[in-house]
Amino acid sequence: MTRGRIAVRTAEASQAPKLHALISANLEEGHLLPRTLSELVVHAERFAIAVRGKKIVGCAELAPLSPHVAEVRSLAVDSGERGRGVGTRLVDQLRRRALGEGFEKLCAFTHTPGYFMQMGFSIVPHQWLPEKIFTDCLKCPFFRRCGQYAMVVPLDHLRVADDRRRPLESIADDGRPGTVAPYA
Ligand SMILES: CC(C)(COP(=O)(O)OP(=O)(O)OC[C@H]1O[C@@H](n2cnc3c(N)ncnc32)[C@H](O)[C@@H]1OP(=O)(O)O)[C@@H](O)C(=O)NCCC(=O)NCCS
Repeated sequence: MTRGRIAVRTAEASQAPKLHALISANLEEGHLLPRTLSELVVHAERFAIAVRGKKIVGCAELAPLSPHVAEVRSLAVDSGERGRGVGTRLVDQLRRRALGEGFEKLCAFTHTPGYFMQMGFSIVPHQWLPEKIFTDCLKCPFFRRCGQYAMVVPLDHLRVADDRRRPLESIADDGRPGTVAPYA
């Protein structure tokens, strides 16, 4: 029996409980920020989700930190679906969306820098992302001792790479439910 294909699309508010369950299941392993159900309802459309049938098998949020910088947050892939490129597809989808929305940089804060490095992110000093410090770090109990790496990828650089591969219009995330993200 085939398991069906995995599609990447934009989440809807009604899917917030499933998002909440997936993020909660990966909190400890991924050192993820706890998310409340109500904030996920409000911000559901920021999430790219990977779905197989009716199941959400992966998620990642594009959170704006400033008009110039957006952050990948709450990246999680169901343990039974890992190693198949789902996480990479989700980050790629957010990267394209961030590019389309005019952000200049995409950042991530992580304990697993190797994962983001193979997607083109570089480790930078936390001070290079003051938007994050003022938005989250100052009120965090682990400020200055969180052990996370700040990682960033400039989106302009990736625009050039994308333009070489295919026209930008054909890869834009149009946000419609059910849209299967093209993926190289
Ligand atoms: C990290 C996570 C999202 C990866 O999802 P995934 O769908 O398995 O990732 P992919 O299949 O896209 O992996 C692509 C590549 O990254 C590598 N990779 C996966 N996890 C990695 C890690 N922790 N460190 C370095 N490389 C890693 C894979 O080996 C693969 O390399 P390959 O293509 O050469 O084989 C998933 O393991 C997860 O949900 N973990 C728990 C939550 C978490 O850690 N979230 C991230 C917090 S920032």
